[in-house]
Formats: sequence, structure tokens, C-alpha cells
Amino acid sequence: MKEIMQTIEQFKDWFVANKFPLRPPFADPIYHTDISTSFVWYRAEPWQVELYLVKPDTVAPVHTHPDFDSIEFYIAGTFRLTNPELDKQNLEPLMKTPAFDGRHQLYGQTIKVPPDFEHGGLFGGNGAAFWSIQKWDKGVVPTSATKNWKGDTIGDHHKNIVNEEV
Ligand SMILES: [Fe+2]
Repeated sequence: MKEIMQTIEQFKDWFVANKFPLRPPFADPIYHTDISTSFVWYRAEPWQVELYLVKPDTVAPVHTHPDFDSIEFYIAGTFRLTNPELDKQNLEPLMKTPAFDGRHQLYGQTIKVPPDFEHGGLFGGNGAAFWSIQKWDKGVVPTSATKNWKGDTIGDHHKNIVNEEV
């Protein structure tokens, strides 16, 4: 199945159906910004999944990820992507009580983030956990959404990561 996958949606479905296989790379498996830590949970070019853990009460400024197509997969915590369309939705009630099975009400919700999709992040009092499920462009060596970032950076540490050569 993996050999014939073409789209980010197909890869996301494969990743979920196969119970989130763990295949971290030897090199560069962990990235940090001033507000987050991310772990490359799965990498097999052009496919990649990063687990993001974000600190509470923080903001990620509007940006794009120019070299990969992606889907964000909601795991836990309080956060939302900021985007004019998404801002019309009221997700607050869903963040206040657990789902029937004890998980977050938004667990498993996904948001498509194509390369030109401008978005930011607002992270609430619990911080947040999500997967960034990615298909990297042909000829681009996968790194991280933290590094493949166009727009204002989160802080000085993040700026250094974005600007350093691979
Ligand atoms: Fe992003």
C-alpha cells in the first residue's frame, strides 16, 4: 500500500490504520523552538510525521511551510490554528469536557495545511499535542515543520534554526 500512496490523505489514512508506526531517523530526530519540542515519529521520504508538544499560553505567528503538504492531527490539549476560515468556528466548548471514551473531544480531527496555507497557532492553558503528517516535495530532504518555515519566527532560538544551513 505504502508504495502506491500519492496524496497526503492516503498517507494519513495509512498511518492511522497501521496504528501510528514508529520509525524515527537516526539523524536530527528532535527539534526545539522557544515554545515547542517536536519529535520525528516517522520518516520514510517523502513521508514524515512529527509529534509536536507545545508549551501552555503561547502563540505561533502566521507562517507557511513552503516545501511540504501536510495534515495536522489533533491529539490533546488546548489549541487552534489561526486562519480566517477556521476563526469562524467556535471550538471552545469542545475543549472543556472530555469525549465519552476519556479522550479529547477533538482527538483525531484533522486540518489540511497545504504549502501555501497561511496559519498560526494559539495554545491554551494545557499546552497541546498534535501530529504534523507531511509529504515533502520531490528533491527536498525532510527536516521539520519547525525549520521549513516562512514568516515571523517564534523567538531567537527558532530564528537560528530556520536560518541555519541543513
Ligand atoms: Fe505550521
